[in-house]
Amino acid sequence: MYQSTSYVLAIDTKTELFDGMYINTEEPIYSFRSVDFENKKLLILAGADHKTGFAPTEVDTYKKLEDLAKKYYPKLEVLYKWNTRDCITLDKIPYIGNLSSFSPNVYVATGFNKWGMTTSNVAANIIKDNILNNENKYSFVFNSLRLNPIKNRTELKNMGNESFKAFITNRIKITPDSISKIKRDNGAIIKLSNKSVGIYKDLYGKIYAVNPTCTHLGCLLTWNNLDKTWDCPCHGSRYDYTGKNIYDPAFKNLKRYEIE
Ligand code: FES
Repeated sequence: MYQSTSYVLAIDTKTELFDGMYINTEEPIYSFRSVDFENKKLLILAGADHKTGFAPTEVDTYKKLEDLAKKYYPKLEVLYKWNTRDCITLDKIPYIGNLSSFSPNVYVATGFNKWGMTTSNVAANIIKDNILNNENKYSFVFNSLRLNPIKNRTELKNMGNESFKAFITNRIKITPDSISKIKRDNGAIIKLSNKSVGIYKDLYGKIYAVNPTCTHLGCLLTWNNLDKTWDCPCHGSRYDYTGKNIYDPAFKNLKRYEIE
């Protein structure tokens, strides 16, 4: 599986809202749904996904989402914005069933490919039937022990290349630069004293320097200027600009450097 990031706005549309969920069929994909929140109905607008650890498809994705919503709700107010992450399987079918053939009482349900609300219900039914020894006519489709993803050779090759780049190529391609060239409220990886250093310069010019090596398995992180985070292209771990871990599978913070 690989990780995919999507962006989300929670919007007070200042007008009556629909019920239900809607999604378009062309790229880029956007979904609309409503949610009850503190005695109000809010619009949840999500989309503009990309592989975690790679550059967003838009310079300012949140603004792009807001502009889209304004077409339908010109008086709207954006109350919250965030990004979220999903596990995508190579054959686009979730894994639901036994975790391994050696642990018959341990189940897994993952790789929902952004359809978690629907597929988690499918998973609940399949796993419940497994536990009760009932036959479930859909369980073979989601068989968690299948090896079919290997059939998706193109995506497998892409993932291999991306991981290889994150481990090796980026490390030797880093061009020497100086902190002064980094604009305020921006980040970059630069070489300092022969070390790769991840730098974020805040709005006031304060510098935050970290070791940009993922604490999970050592991939080189990339700077995400939309959310001011360090993101891992290998398995999707993320860290805030101070190096604090905010997303697994890594659970350790990045090493901080002091800049003199
Ligand atoms: Fe970064 Fe695995 S190496 S998440």
